[in-house]
Amino acid sequence: MLWHMVYSLLLLSLLSRCTGDESLPEVTDYEEAPMDKREREALYSAVQGFVGDSWNGSDLYPDPCGWTPIQGVSCDIYNDLWYVTDLSLGLIHENSLACSSSLELRPELFELKHLKSLSFFNCFISPMVIAKEDWINFASSLESLEFRSNPGLIGKLPETVGNLTNLKSLVVLENGFNGELPASICNLKSLKRMVLSGNAFKGMIPNCFKGLKELLILDLSRNSFSGTLPSSVGDLFSLLKLDLSNNLIEGNLPQEIGFLKNLTLLDLRNNRFSGGLSNNIEKIQSLTELVLSNNPMSDEDMMGIKWGKMGSLVILDVSKIGLRGEIPIGLTNLKRLRFLGLNNNNLTGFVPSEKLEALPCLGSLYINGNNLTGELRFSRKFYEKMGRRFKASKNPNLCQPFEMVMSESHRHVAPLGVKPCT
Ligand SMILES: *[C@@H]1O[C@H](CO)[C@@H](O)[C@H](O)[C@H]1NC(C)=O
Ligand SMILES: *[C@@H]1O[C@H](CO)[C@@H](O)[C@H](O)[C@H]1NC(C)=O
Ligand SMILES: *[C@@H]1O[C@H](CO)[C@@H](O)[C@H](O)[C@H]1NC(C)=O
Ligand SMILES: *[C@@H]1O[C@H](CO)[C@@H](O)[C@H](O)[C@H]1NC(C)=O
Ligand SMILES: *[C@@H]1O[C@H](CO)[C@@H](O)[C@H](O)[C@H]1NC(C)=O
Repeated sequence: MLWHMVYSLLLLSLLSRCTGDESLPEVTDYEEAPMDKREREALYSAVQGFVGDSWNGSDLYPDPCGWTPIQGVSCDIYNDLWYVTDLSLGLIHENSLACSSSLELRPELFELKHLKSLSFFNCFISPMVIAKEDWINFASSLESLEFRSNPGLIGKLPETVGNLTNLKSLVVLENGFNGELPASICNLKSLKRMVLSGNAFKGMIPNCFKGLKELLILDLSRNSFSGTLPSSVGDLFSLLKLDLSNNLIEGNLPQEIGFLKNLTLLDLRNNRFSGGLSNNIEKIQSLTELVLSNNPMSDEDMMGIKWGKMGSLVILDVSKIGLRGEIPIGLTNLKRLRFLGLNNNNLTGFVPSEKLEALPCLGSLYINGNNLTGELRFSRKFYEKMGRRFKASKNPNLCQPFEMVMSESHRHVAPLGVKPCT
């Protein structure tokens, strides 16, 4: 109402001064695109459903796309009328739309015609299954859908998510969703980001990567996915990050993984991958983080891989995967390496101490829990730099120079659990 008064006054003053005077302000400054009435009512009702009946939108926010913006609501103009394009519910900022514990997902939400982005953060606390709502109404508009930290969201991911074929980003992070993924998820051909981390999803990883050519980020970590990784993963040519960590995935790492020429992160830790390291891993020369720890890959000889080719590696964690053989010298060519985890394997032979110490960025080195032999030859300075981020214990045949352990000045930096050489 207030705005209409101001607007009329401005209009009056403009009319009364309407003499072609160049000092007149541009009319566009005062132009108002009205909001579609149904859209406004739908917004009020949808939001009220989430935050509770005491929230009276028309009272508090008479012009939600204009003079009285609502935190978490953005609008844009379509055919000279304002429509809501972004809606964020849940406690993000102090004055954002906090969800009520007895919230309802009202049908009016699905009447927002031009909604591009919908996100729920810390909103669904009490248990609730979403499924039958009219998600299909968003099919041509929605580009981003996010559910983050909603412990109350349980049950399956609604089948109709697969109808949102304009989605570029689907983030379903740390909720209580469970069950198998709907096969319809394979229809999301525009997806660039799919994050389903930290739920209780189970069953096979859908074998539909052929259709998801745009995908840059695939994060299925911290669920209970099982079965094998489909070889069609090699069709995700654009992929930058693949995180499947903390699941129950088994079988070989498909050779096709070598097709992912732009991959920077591959995290498969804490699964049941077996069958050894794929030699094709060395073909992914863009990798900066390779984390394979805690998989029964077994019987694998590290020497077979040309580590020296993977010069972008910053983090290499191959701990607890049953590696045998010697520490490959190729690793000491990885000049960017900051983290090297070789612990809890069956590695034998000498430790290339001088060469490892020469790696300029190395800040963490774990070689404990192997069967390495001979003398550690790192300098005192190196141990000082590494502190607790160096471990060599539990290698029964490994020793360190006598003076490292005995000298008063060295003793406090000398690695623990390594006997003095005799
Ligand atoms: C909001 O308040 C107005 C007047 O203050 C009232 O007419 C209207 O019914 C209220 N709406 C809701 C949904 O409570
Ligand atoms: C929604 O997707 C399913 C396939 O997952 C399809 O059968 C159905 O026709 C779609 N509905 C609409 C309205 O597009
Ligand atoms: C890989 O990255 C390069 C450089 O960023 C880019 O030009 C190329 O299109 C990418 N390849 C694919 C298949 O996305
Ligand atoms: C190391 O190899 C020995 C002999 O082959 C085997 O008994 C042992 O289980 C292996 N240890 C690990 C941690 O893989
Ligand atoms: C460790 O290596 C030595 C040879 O260097 C071998 O005799 C011994 O059996 C190995 N121990 C284990 C547990 O594999």
